[in-house]
Amino acid sequence: MGTKALVKQEFEGNLLSPLPIVLVGAMVNNQPNYLVIGYSSPFDFGKYIFISLYKKRYTRIGIHENRTFSVNIPSEDLLAETNICGSKSGRDFNKGSLFDTFYGDLKTAPMIRQCPINMECEVTEILDYNPNEGIIGRVVKSYADPRCITDGKLDWRKVHPIIWATGGDFNYYRLGERISQKKSKTD
Ligand SMILES: Cc1cc2nc3c(=O)[nH]c(=O)nc-3n(C[C@H](O)[C@H](O)[C@H](O)COP(=O)(O)O)c2cc1C
Repeated sequence: MGTKALVKQEFEGNLLSPLPIVLVGAMVNNQPNYLVIGYSSPFDFGKYIFISLYKKRYTRIGIHENRTFSVNIPSEDLLAETNICGSKSGRDFNKGSLFDTFYGDLKTAPMIRQCPINMECEVTEILDYNPNEGIIGRVVKSYADPRCITDGKLDWRKVHPIIWATGGDFNYYRLGERISQKKSKTD
């Protein structure tokens, strides 16, 4: 590769992308409410999840009140419901009515039965980045649809997550093919 190939186009801001979108759930006024979060990240080897939340979000009321939330990974077939969760506020529309809700160990972190992956989280820290907040939750327990499991292991190709590209693109994509083959412990 010649040095010319190393010339870069500069961009403003973050290009850590693409990422799966998630539906974050919380109890607000005794009703489950869900919103789309594009800016989320696992950290500390996945023991915690970080979400970036605008202070004006209706969901935030429930997260602050109960100090719990859920993270649900929708599959492609939930695109229509996901679009509603990302465009309408729980202030104006009962988004809990779009799904069957279930609860785990934390009784105040509503989870979506139709989503193949769910995690219940308890808030450990809230960072003030006005007008946003960085909310950190410890993953208390995770759940997967048994139909997404192959030979006892979670098979992401069966989850069909909705992948969101940022950096000016802002479209959704689907997960591509597997390009590596890790040996399992039993091999
Ligand atoms: C692709 C996508 C990504 C989004 N990411 C975020 C995000 O990271 N943080 C946030 O506060 N809102 C985000 N939103 C916006 C909220 O999902 C949206 O405003 C929602 O209607 C708020 O619902 P609520 O008022 O019931 O909480 C995103 C929306 C879309 C469509």
